Amino acid sequence: MTRSKIKNRPLLSLVVAVLGFFWRTITASSNGEYLIGVGSYDMTGPAAGVNMMGYANPFQTTAGVHFRLRVRTFIVAESSQGPRFAFVNLDSGMASQLVTIKVLEKLKTRFGGLYTEENVAISGIHTHAGPGGYLQYMLYTIASLGFVQQSFDAIVDAIEQSIIQVHGSLKPGSVFINQGDVENAGINRSPSAYLMNPEEERARYSTNVDKLMTLLKFVDGASGKSIGGFSWYATHGTSMSKDNKLISGDNKGAAARLFEDWFASASTQSPSHSITNSSSSSLDVGDELIKKAQRIKATGGKLCGPKTSQGFKVRKNDGSLFVGAFCQSNVGDVTPNVLGAFCTDSGKPCDFQHSTCDGDNQRCLGRGPGYPDEILSTKIIGERQFKQAVDLFMSATEQLTGKIDYRHVYLNFTNIEVDLHGKNVVQTCPAALGPGFAAGTTDGPGFPGFQQGDKKLSERWIKLRDALKKPSQYQLDCQYPKPVLIDSGEKFDPYAWAPAILPIQILRLGKLIILSVPGEFTTMAGRRLREAVKETLIGDGSGEFDNNTHVVIAGLSNTYSQYVATFEEYTQQRYEASSTLYGPHTLSAYIQEFKKLAKAMAKGEPVPKGPSPPDLSSEIIRNQVGPVGESPPPGVNFGDIKDDVNLPKSGSFAKGERVNATFWSANPRYDLLTEGTYAVVEMLQGKSWISVYDDDDLSLYYKFKVDKSGYYGLANLEWEIPKEAKSGVYRLRHFGSSRKKKDSPNIYFTGASSSFAVS
Ligand SMILES: *[C@@H]1O[C@H](CO)[C@@H](O)[C@H](O)[C@H]1NC(C)=O
Ligand SMILES: *[C@@H]1O[C@H](CO)[C@@H](O)[C@H](O)[C@H]1NC(C)=O
Ligand SMILES: *[C@@H]1O[C@H](CO)[C@@H](O)[C@H](O)[C@H]1NC(C)=O
Ligand SMILES: *[C@@H]1O[C@H](CO)[C@@H](O)[C@H](O)[C@H]1NC(C)=O
Repeated sequence: MTRSKIKNRPLLSLVVAVLGFFWRTITASSNGEYLIGVGSYDMTGPAAGVNMMGYANPFQTTAGVHFRLRVRTFIVAESSQGPRFAFVNLDSGMASQLVTIKVLEKLKTRFGGLYTEENVAISGIHTHAGPGGYLQYMLYTIASLGFVQQSFDAIVDAIEQSIIQVHGSLKPGSVFINQGDVENAGINRSPSAYLMNPEEERARYSTNVDKLMTLLKFVDGASGKSIGGFSWYATHGTSMSKDNKLISGDNKGAAARLFEDWFASASTQSPSHSITNSSSSSLDVGDELIKKAQRIKATGGKLCGPKTSQGFKVRKNDGSLFVGAFCQSNVGDVTPNVLGAFCTDSGKPCDFQHSTCDGDNQRCLGRGPGYPDEILSTKIIGERQFKQAVDLFMSATEQLTGKIDYRHVYLNFTNIEVDLHGKNVVQTCPAALGPGFAAGTTDGPGFPGFQQGDKKLSERWIKLRDALKKPSQYQLDCQYPKPVLIDSGEKFDPYAWAPAILPIQILRLGKLIILSVPGEFTTMAGRRLREAVKETLIGDGSGEFDNNTHVVIAGLSNTYSQYVATFEEYTQQRYEASSTLYGPHTLSAYIQEFKKLAKAMAKGEPVPKGPSPPDLSSEIIRNQVGPVGESPPPGVNFGDIKDDVNLPKSGSFAKGERVNATFWSANPRYDLLTEGTYAVVEMLQGKSWISVYDDDDLSLYYKFKVDKSGYYGLANLEWEIPKEAKSGVYRLRHFGSSRKKKDSPNIYFTGASSSFAVS
C-alpha cells in the first residue's frame, strides 16, 4: 500500500503537470496573449474643388465620392500597464509630418504619455484619389495652391476618433500571422532600373517585385470571434488615373471594403444589403413591381438634422464592426497597371529605358487589368488583394507570442555620415529632385519634355532652376549623378520646401517586426532593409529572434519624403531614383540607422530622441477658397429632383444597368457628413424604406457639379445595380448641407427620387 502510493507519485505529478499544462493552454488561448483592439473612422475630406494628392496634377480636383475614405487602427498591449503600440492605416496618399504632430498633441492631452511618437505609427495606403493640402512642406502643397485646413482636420480628427474607439475597446485576445503571395496585382514599372542591381543579388529572387502579403488576424479572447485583419503588401494606389475626380481609396480602399463586407456577410452581423430579406417583394414579379414603383413619386427636398444621414448608413460605426485594412509596403517601383505600359497612339510598348514614345513621356501610359475602365481596374486589383487576404485569414494558425516593443528616432537626413562597410565614409545630401521626377511615371506622366533616366538638364532648365534656387556646388556634387532640377532641400522661402528631419521606427509584436519608413522604398531597397534588420536582430539578440522572425515594411509612415532607390538604381535616374531626395547613399543611411534601432531593441537599450521636426502650421500658406454661401434657384428647394431617374422603356432596370438621378444641391464642403452619407439607395420592404447601399459602396457614385449658370449646385447619384441586388422597388436618396452666407449656420437637407423597379 505504502509502496504503491510512492510508486504512483511520479505518475500523479505527471497527470497534474499535464492537466496544468492544458489548463494554462486553455486559459491562455481563451484570455489571449495580449490586449487587442481594432477600430475605424470616416476620414473623407472635401469632395469638391480640392486638389487630389498624388499625381501633382493641378487640374485634378475633387468632384464627388466613389467611396469614402477610412482610418483603420489596431492597438496591441502586453497588459493594461505594459508596453503597447498603435498602428494607424490611412486611406490617404501618405502620412504627413504635421498630421502626426497634431495627432500626437491630441493624444497627449487625452491619454497623457500612453501614446507618443515612439509607439504610434501612422501609415498611408497611397491612394492618389484623396483630397490634398494636408502636408506641411512647400513642395507638397503647390498643386493644391497651399494648405487645405479641411482636408487636414478630417484626417487628424478621424485618427483621434479611431484611437479613442480602439483604446476603449481593448480586450484580451490573440493575434495570428500568415503570409502568402498575391498574384497579378503588381508589376515593376521601372524594370530597367531594377536590372541595375547586381546580378547575384537579383538571382536570389524569382521576381522583380515582392508579391508577399503578410496578414495579422485579431481574435477576441472571450468570444473566440475574429475582430479584424491587417495586411501589408506593396502595390501603388494608381489604378485610378490622374484624370479621376471622385474620392476613392483606390485598390487598397476597395480591398478593405470587400474584406469587411465579406466578413459581415459570412457572419451574422451582415450589412443590410447582403441579408436583405426580399420575402415582401419576392411575390411581386415584373409588372407588379413596376406598378408598385410607379405609385411612389419623388419626395421633394426637406430639411433634416446634421446627423440624419448617419441614421441612413448601411454599416453603422458603433465600434463593433469588423476592421479589414490593406497597408502599404515597399511600393516604390510597383504599379497595379499590370498589363504594362503602351503608347497611346501606336499601341506599342513604350521605350524600355525611358518609358517614352518617340521621346515623349505624355503618350506612354500603364494599363490596368480593366483597361480602359479604371474603376474596373481598381476593383480587380482590390479583389486580388482581398481574396489572398481571405485565404490567409482563414488559414492563419501561427500565433504571435512574446514581447511588444518599439524604438523611434528622428534623423536629420541632410548630412548623415554613412560608413560603407568600413571601406569609406560617405554622406547624404540636402533634399533635391532631378528631371526624372519631373517626367513622372507610366502611372501618371509628369511635365512634357522630360524623360525618366535624364541625366542632363538643358541650358533653359538650368536657367529656370537657378532663378528659383541656385544649388550650391556641394549639393550638385553630392547628388551626382542626379542633375539637380529642384533644390528643395536648400530652399527655405517662404518656408522649408522639403523635409530634413525624418522619423524611423521599429515596432515589435512577438516575432513580427514592423519597420515604419517615411517614404516609398523600391522593391530591392526594401529587401535590403528588411534583411539588414533581420540579421541584426538575430546576430545581436538574446536568441529571441530567429529565422522565423517576420519583418515587414510599413511604407509612407509618419511623414513623407518621396522615394528610396538603391545606389545602383540611383545611377540610372528613373523617376524613383530621381525622387530619392537625399542623394545616392539615402538607402545606405536608412540601413545604417535602422540597424542601430534593431540593435538597441535586441539588447533592450534605449535610443536617443534626435532633433524634432518643425511644426510649420503658423507659416504655411493657406488659400482657403471654400464655398461662401449659396441658395437653390427661385421656387426650388435643396434636395428637390432636377432630373428624375432615367427609366428605360421596359419600365424597370435589370441588374448591371445604371440608374441615375440629379438633385438640386450645394457644395459638399459645408459639411463632410462624417460617418454619414451623401447618397443612399433605399429598398422598399413592406411599408418602410431600408438603406441598402450608401456612399461607402463601390456600386454607388455621388458626383457634384455646378449648373450652367455657375450659381447652383447639382448632385448626381448614380447606381450601378450589382448582380447580387434583390429584385424589388428602390429609390435614390441624397443628403447635403448648405449655408446662406459665409457665416450663417448650416442647414441640412435630403430628398428622394421617384421609385423604380429592379427585376
Ligand atoms: C427571410 O424570410 C424567410 C421566409 O419568410 C425566413 O424563413 C427567414 O428566416 C428570413 N431571413 C432573415 C435573415 O430574416
Ligand atoms: C539639418 O542639418 C543641417 C546640416 O547640418 C542643418 O543646416 C539644418 O539646420 C538641420 N535641419 C534641422 C531642421 O535641424
Ligand atoms: C530562413 O528562411 C528562409 C525562408 O523563410 C529560407 O529560405 C532559409 O533557408 C532559412 N535560413 C536558415 C538559416 O534556416
Ligand atoms: C442619367 O440619366 C440621364 C437621364 O436623366 C441619361 O440621359 C443618362 O444617360 C444617364 N446616365 C447614365 C450613366 O446612365
